Amino acid sequence: MTKAQFQVFSSPEFVAQAVASHIAEVVRARPQTVLGLATGKTFVSIYEALVRVSAETGLSFAEASSFNLDEYVGLPVGHSASFRRYMEEHFFRHVDLPADRALLPEAGDDAEAACSAYEAAIAARGGVDVQLLGIGRNGHIGFNEPGSAFDGRTQVARLTPSTIAANTSDFPPGEVPPPEAITMGIGTILDAHAIVLVATGAAKAEALARAFLAPMDVDCPASALQQHAHVTVFCDEAAFAGMGPKA
Ligand code: F6R
Repeated sequence: MTKAQFQVFSSPEFVAQAVASHIAEVVRARPQTVLGLATGKTFVSIYEALVRVSAETGLSFAEASSFNLDEYVGLPVGHSASFRRYMEEHFFRHVDLPADRALLPEAGDDAEAACSAYEAAIAARGGVDVQLLGIGRNGHIGFNEPGSAFDGRTQVARLTPSTIAANTSDFPPGEVPPPEAITMGIGTILDAHAIVLVATGAAKAEALARAFLAPMDVDCPASALQQHAHVTVFCDEAAFAGMGPKA
């Protein structure tokens, strides 16, 4: 049985405000917070809300650090669909988080070495305090697709056709996502002191129910979160629909 706490809101806008307020509170209470960050469509409105809270209240990220969950392998620097570019556009350029402490996994010439270095950098900061997560329709977290080991560390992962299809709209016409990405492993994610999972829209209802109502199963990577003691799920009613009595 999951220990996760659910906060359910009537719309994605209210979810975004609630997640932004929560993160703002965490950073206010501990300015040196180590944030684990996610990208994806769900998080666009969340960063927008967090940037707004920061501007309106003078919230500073100057002492914070961040580690993103994942990044494609092989995209040219500055590619419009890279997660680095996404983060710059939606968050980094709007806040005072120092650039040298706003990290994403970068494959470089030696992806394996980059994965170990990323783990070491997280450990050197004392671990992630709050990890933000979205969820894929197939239950993936980060780019940990179904079948990924629950104790996996940062690694190069192959994307499934369904994830490639879901992310193709982020790419310019005629381009498709690369087949590989570096992602924090599920074990890396579970090491975070607290986890905030965000799900909005009916398309996520089935994945959310599988993650938290069904027994843990590597076929649903997000179900690994049932083992974690501090998971809060922020979702809208549409995504929560499968969690009801009929699920
Ligand atoms: C992004 C990530 C992915 C997304 C997931 C949901 O950094 O790790 O797991 O969170 O694919 O994406 P959206 O929000 O686009 O539905």
